[in-house]
Amino acid sequence: MQHSTDATQPFDLVIRNGRISNADRTFHADIGVRDGVIAGIGENLPAGREDVDARGLWVLPGGIDSHTHIEQLSGMGVMCADDFYSGTVSAAFGGTTTILSFCAQHRNDRIPDVLRDYSRRAREKAVIDYGFHLILTNPDEQALTKDLPAVIEGGITSLKVYMTYDKLKLDDYELLDVLAVAGEYGAMVMLHAENHDMIRWVARRLLERGHKAPKFHAVAHDPLAESEATHRAIALSRLVDVPVLIVHVAGGETIDIIRKAQNLGAQVFSESCPQYLFLEAGDSDLPGVEGAKFCCSPPPGDKASQEAVWEGFKDGTLNVYSSDHAPYRFDESGKLPKGDATTFKEMANGVPGIELRLPLLFSEGVMTGRMSVEQFVALTATNHARMYGLAPRKGAIAVGADADLVLWDTERRTTVTAGMLHDQVGYTPYEGRELRGWPIQVYSRGRCVVRDDTLHVERGSGQFIARSRPQPVIERRADPSRGLFSQYVGLKPAAENR
Ligand code: URP
Ligand code: ZN
Ligand code: ZN
Repeated sequence: MQHSTDATQPFDLVIRNGRISNADRTFHADIGVRDGVIAGIGENLPAGREDVDARGLWVLPGGIDSHTHIEQLSGMGVMCADDFYSGTVSAAFGGTTTILSFCAQHRNDRIPDVLRDYSRRAREKAVIDYGFHLILTNPDEQALTKDLPAVIEGGITSLKVYMTYDKLKLDDYELLDVLAVAGEYGAMVMLHAENHDMIRWVARRLLERGHKAPKFHAVAHDPLAESEATHRAIALSRLVDVPVLIVHVAGGETIDIIRKAQNLGAQVFSESCPQYLFLEAGDSDLPGVEGAKFCCSPPPGDKASQEAVWEGFKDGTLNVYSSDHAPYRFDESGKLPKGDATTFKEMANGVPGIELRLPLLFSEGVMTGRMSVEQFVALTATNHARMYGLAPRKGAIAVGADADLVLWDTERRTTVTAGMLHDQVGYTPYEGRELRGWPIQVYSRGRCVVRDDTLHVERGSGQFIARSRPQPVIERRADPSRGLFSQYVGLKPAAENR
């Protein structure tokens, strides 16, 4: 039995008789919660002020979704359909208790203003805990020397940079500048890796030939655009010996490149998402603009790339499974700025998935035996906590951790419809799927957030989580060949800054 220090006080909540899984093992026990924190784990815990019988249910750590776009203006100037209320409510109903969302700098924005704005909106609306990544589009002197160090000090210990999109992309020189600062202060750099000019060149030729329909989005974003940029991003990261995390990985060749770099000892981590396991490029081949509901960047590939993503999760090449929830309505406010005349180049990129992320993987991974429940926990919670500096507070069921707990009913069968979801999107690319297993009770810091298909918490009751430095899931192996290089070019390791 594990106990916290103050064993004399009654528990506020006991979740009894559940089948508990962490990333390393599964066991049966009771969980006692006091002041929002797990205070005891063991058999026959004394009664709590509230006692929940979880017999027959699986008790897993609350999901962490480290890639969500909420109440964010996209690079093309389109506002997401979800605000911090609907986005976090939708997350909670799908078993997620912490999200990391983006604060997006547009090129003329001052970084402190951006953070202040997102922080205020999230504080007023979020119902679960949240943190932020900074999207950095203007790495000027002010950003590199003043703003970024302050952002990281303030608990936003990760940033996302783009290698494509006219209004977001950084060139390789700028990427190196950002990596050097991230390395010095110990932040994780998330990379959207696609070759901008390949996409631009192919897209122009497609449009010139009248190929405007959504299905041509996947043609414009050839898998080579992703694999080339990933290879380049890894080379940049290795040059300065600073970790990177390649987000929303779609293609088999990209996964092979990441695996090879990891085998060489490179600090390269990666993420994939439901759309790359459960959607295919062919899904966007629909009449009119209907296929826009399935378009995101990079686009889903074919059956072989789906298999490669499954394999990447299984062998640990892919470290985190996130939604990349990018909620755009199927109308002029979102996907279709020019209505039915919108070309694939003008549609908002991205698909919703914050609520179905966990149920999809639980059903198709765990319930089919394709993945162990421990792997599921690692990919959906524990690895996110480590990679993004939320551990040990989040990501595991352990004494001293926040009581972020989800009770799963493995018997529940659900047919997905857009109407049952709590986002503001109005459609789901997973319409009609039959899923086995569902997160039926959700606790965040010991507060019951969802029970009986009902929300039990107030808007604004989520908390901002200031994160510590990432602890990558692969141990760092010092690369002696980079030592002298780092000395010559003045790179400082993060450790000197703590
Ligand atoms: O298509 C996507 N993934 N849209 C969301 C923005 C991004 O790049 O993650
Ligand atoms: Zn991206
Ligand atoms: Zn994204």
